[in-house]
Amino acid sequence: MDKKIIVAIDGHASCGKSTFAKMIAKELGYIYIDSGAMYRAVTLYSLRQGFTGSNGTDRESIIKELSSISIRFSYNADTGGYETYLNNENVEDEIRSIEISGYVSEVSRISEVRKRMVELQREIGVFKGIVMDGRDIGTVVFPDADIKIFLTASVEVRAMRRFLELKEKGVEANLEEIKSNIEERDRMDSSREISPLIKAEDALLLDNSNMTPERQMSWFRELLKKKGS
Ligand code: DC
Repeated sequence: MDKKIIVAIDGHASCGKSTFAKMIAKELGYIYIDSGAMYRAVTLYSLRQGFTGSNGTDRESIIKELSSISIRFSYNADTGGYETYLNNENVEDEIRSIEISGYVSEVSRISEVRKRMVELQREIGVFKGIVMDGRDIGTVVFPDADIKIFLTASVEVRAMRRFLELKEKGVEANLEEIKSNIEERDRMDSSREISPLIKAEDALLLDNSNMTPERQMSWFRELLKKKGS
């Protein structure tokens, strides 16, 4: 495709959005942006400051400190991936913990947090040539995105994939705990008042429960062809 486009990938928790988005970005020579990492970084900041935790979430303090939170992505040539920086600290690994996963839906339902993140996301996408994944990319962040995909998979398949991924990294994990975290995040992300997780009317639904990443890419190439590139 000569003209640079925006590809928006939304969908349920842990259904392989980032794997798919990264593969598409690589194939098209585009930038990949993981919008969930931005919400995870705000959550890490809030946890460290004691603004969120097992005693609940202090929305006012998070809102007050939003201007002190800087988030950026930096490309790591060694790993070939983008890494998340919170106030100039590389937090890529820390934001993936199950603890952050447990609080992130709570923090990401604060409207001021969302407003700030959406602003940043739009700034990053201003020149197009970007693949962004998340929950509200096709509905709110880039409603005019050229390609919108809504990804899903059965909760059992998603939990097992995540379990194996953690196991491979040497992280001890409990399958049932992962499954209930995924279900709870889906519930909270889909039921929140502001920009809930819903399929944009013009998004293509893809259930990848029985698809390999390679098969997904063939599906995407067909889609690009149909879009006239
Ligand atoms: O994509 P992820 O699982 O890393 O996202 C973590 C959480 O961030 C997700 O449970 C909800 C929130 N999120 C969001 O509200 N909007 C987005 N665009 C991306 C993520």
